[in-house]
Amino acid sequence: MRILFVGDVVGSPGRDMVQEYVPRLKEKYKPQITIINGENAAAGRGITEKIYRQFLESGAQAVTLGNHSWDNRDIFEFIDEAKYLVRPGNFPEGTPGEGIKFIKYNQSEVAVISLQGRTFMPPLDCPFMKADELVEIARKRTDIIFVDFHAEASSEKQAMGWYLDGRVSAVVGTHTHVQTSDDRILPGGTAYLTDVGMTGPYDAILGMGREAVITRFLTSMPVRFEVPSEGRKLLSAVIIDLDPKTGKAKKTERILINDDHPFFS
Ligand SMILES: [Fe+2]
Ligand SMILES: [Fe+2]
Repeated sequence: MRILFVGDVVGSPGRDMVQEYVPRLKEKYKPQITIINGENAAAGRGITEKIYRQFLESGAQAVTLGNHSWDNRDIFEFIDEAKYLVRPGNFPEGTPGEGIKFIKYNQSEVAVISLQGRTFMPPLDCPFMKADELVEIARKRTDIIFVDFHAEASSEKQAMGWYLDGRVSAVVGTHTHVQTSDDRILPGGTAYLTDVGMTGPYDAILGMGREAVITRFLTSMPVRFEVPSEGRKLLSAVIIDLDPKTGKAKKTERILINDDHPFFS
């Protein structure tokens, strides 16, 4: 059984890459489940219902979020009804949305869990304790459990990977927007990748226009970051193969598509 996970889609360049390459990736790799992180899909900040539906139409079965979940107010209009939209589960009690969703797969299900880190990020409930809680809920229904850990610190992400090793199928990091090359199968059978990377503008800084970001570094003044509408683009993703009976991961393959690493179908 194969899962394709596409990292943080940033603005319309990221959405274009999803529309162009997700169908081609599906044709080449034939994943049964495709998951997209859409926390930056609406102009770099949050997601709208239209974009969420576009992702499902492009072939995704679930869309995960992160620290930008609430940045576009459209989210509050549809999150309660969005069956395949997953926001970090350790947001405070009473927050709209849910941190776990189930996707149908053959006679079984796949659990998709989102959690957010707390190191160099806004304070939240403990992602590790929330992971215990959500994994317990998931395991009552399925052994195939995918975790998107949206976090800044590599240490916190590695800690989550090892903490959940043997209890979930995969722990894949998002949020830093730069793909790491450390994909592996941990001894307990959990696929792990510190960060899958982003999908969107390539000649940019984490998907945002270079000049504004450089000005911020040079001056420390508040500058509004915008997603460049023109220019080269990239897509970052990972493939995870697992045993559908046990939920244990068998193989991983990182995917990076840009002008320096072209896609060959
Ligand atoms: Fe992001
Ligand atoms: Fe983020």
